[in-house]
Amino acid sequence: MFPVSYALIAASLLVLFLYRRSNPLYRIPAVGYSAPLLSYIGAIQFMRHGREILQEGYAKHKGSAFRITMLDTWVVILCGAKLNEELRKLPDDQMSFIHAIEELVQTKYTIAPNVIDMPIHIAVIKGPLTRNIASLLPDVVDEIRVATEDSIPIHGDEWTSVPALDTMMQIVCRASNRAFVGLPMCRNSEFLKTVLEFPRNVGLARFTLGLVPSIFKPLVGPWLPWPRRSLRKFSALMEPVVEERLRLLRDHGNDWSEKPNDYLTWLIEESRSIGQPLDLIVNAMLTSNFVAVHTSSTSITHALYHLAANPGYIHPLREEVESIVRTDGWTKPAVSRMMKLDSFLRESQRMNGISGVGVIRKAMKDVILSDGTVIPAGTLCGVAAECTHLDEDSYDDAAVFKPFRFADMREDESERIKYQYVNTSPEYVAFGHGKHACPGRFFAAYELKVVLAILLIKYDVKLEGDSGRPSNQWRGASILPNQSANVMFRRRQGLQSAL
Ligand code: HEM
Ligand SMILES: *[C@@H]1O[C@H](CO)[C@@H](O)[C@H](O)[C@H]1NC(C)=O
Repeated sequence: MFPVSYALIAASLLVLFLYRRSNPLYRIPAVGYSAPLLSYIGAIQFMRHGREILQEGYAKHKGSAFRITMLDTWVVILCGAKLNEELRKLPDDQMSFIHAIEELVQTKYTIAPNVIDMPIHIAVIKGPLTRNIASLLPDVVDEIRVATEDSIPIHGDEWTSVPALDTMMQIVCRASNRAFVGLPMCRNSEFLKTVLEFPRNVGLARFTLGLVPSIFKPLVGPWLPWPRRSLRKFSALMEPVVEERLRLLRDHGNDWSEKPNDYLTWLIEESRSIGQPLDLIVNAMLTSNFVAVHTSSTSITHALYHLAANPGYIHPLREEVESIVRTDGWTKPAVSRMMKLDSFLRESQRMNGISGVGVIRKAMKDVILSDGTVIPAGTLCGVAAECTHLDEDSYDDAAVFKPFRFADMREDESERIKYQYVNTSPEYVAFGHGKHACPGRFFAAYELKVVLAILLIKYDVKLEGDSGRPSNQWRGASILPNQSANVMFRRRQGLQSAL
């Protein structure tokens, strides 16, 4: 009996060995655990020490690539601006963004299959949302003002302490949904709660699926309860709103002169070609929130921590905002001219992205990079985003937060566009880079600039305690601002602003 099983084990090890020899993936150096069959350990190790593993790989392999095990899959990490540019230029039939997200987030199971196959929200974000920022802005500004007052209770001239991330989530969620679904839903507490807890439910489902071998994922996937629960709650709130709008559009016909020019109309129009299924419109609305709200609120929280830890930055920013708003009001061109504010957000996002890995793609066929690395079909890859941002080859004093770094670079007229918040480059991949770079970044930039501007002109800000800027928390490659730290606000002392 024994010799047979030994022979079996030896044979399977031989097969594994030959397989690994013939698969070019295994010629790419691994960082972190890489022994066969130990990839679960590697994944756990990456969950805990993602940042260190990425930094170690980057230091050893800059100009080339290394691989890590992340969740239930290998990911090849390209290192340095030159390869960042190379990756983003590869066409979709070689390096696919959609397939990468599908695999990494298992979106068909964790979000909803129809909106992944028919991403009408992406067309709306890229097209009408971005084109209509100027006309949406007054409502968004109004919502930010009211949400700020609701979320930051001020008594006289006393300092008030609020949890930074939760407060920013509330303000950003309301502001974004003022644009997405409008009043009164954007203030409905059940709606806000459902939207804000959705990403956590997606995360739970994704984590659970990560423990399931690939061949069983299609069996388990459709039964994961958490995202389904969110979708059910969200549908109960949204369906009547969508139904009512569909009815009005039907009753008034095509040349309705007062047809609302808003996000819901755009989603409906985008879904027309495919027959206006109600649940697609509802799912697209939830997915819009999924991509917009947590990304924007963590980004503004990072910036707020920088501001609160260094109140010396307040004065120059305030001066810029007030001088512009006093003459031009809160218009789109006015907000565009707030270059110090723009620089502050860009610099904050350079040092505190949403992920240490960006420009995620999946190889659809074998791809050979200029350094000779062969990425076999089916492999996920991405770029070392934070490492690129903290590389001295990309930025002078790369490890130092310089709030007006980009404003100074923009003094030169010819560099004006290159260094604005929304611009991506091989050295700046916080919004991704290339064809699939975040399409919501134009909206996000205006929204977040107004949030910060309103906080600046209405309040004094400081940290609670004096232990410096609360440090970031990493989970695998994801970067979060400290989730429990408080920031203190009080009514602005001295000159009050009437703006
Ligand atoms: C500061 C806030 C935000 C950050 C940091 C951010 C970041 C990103 C990143 C890194 C990507 C992937 C790009 C790539 O891999 O090349 C992405 C994709 C995307 N973002 Fe954003 N985002 C933000 C806000 C928003 C907002 C407000 C919206 C919607 C209004 C949005 C909608 C999307 C969509 C739909 C995609 C997928 C694009 C596609 O499938 O082609 N994002 N975002
Ligand atoms: C977050 O900040 C709070 C307050 O500054 C601190 O007590 C806590 O330890 C921090 N959490 C992490 C994980 O750094």
